[in-house]
Amino acid sequence: MPLPAVVTPADVAASLTELWSPRVVAEVDDAYVKVARVHGTFTWHAHPDEDELFLVLRGTLEIELEGGAVTLGPGQLVVIPKGTRHNPVAREECHLLLIERRSTLHTGDVVTAQTRSIAEQLRPVGGA
Ligand code: NI
Repeated sequence: MPLPAVVTPADVAASLTELWSPRVVAEVDDAYVKVARVHGTFTWHAHPDEDELFLVLRGTLEIELEGGAVTLGPGQLVVIPKGTRHNPVAREECHLLLIERRSTLHTGDVVTAQTRSIAEQLRPVGGA
């Protein structure tokens, strides 16, 4: 059997050219591990049936929630429970690692110009 691939999420995130466009870096059972480079405000949405884990690799991420907001610095993570409306905001450039079920839609229950399909998220990094 080939040896398992070693991935450096921080390096993959730093190499991304498009903001708010997650890329899959690993698969764990029925979940994807993704990285993203973000800056600015995303969009309010919810994932009715799926939890979503955010881990900050670099920078600061604020996640606005209906009852307030949580702020994550490097090395900190939060799990947004299924059905919870949330809006990620990065006031400075931020690099993220995400863990989501394979079926989780990027912008959840809404479609915006920022929505990226799972196929787009599976594109090799470094390609066009
Ligand atoms: Ni989400």
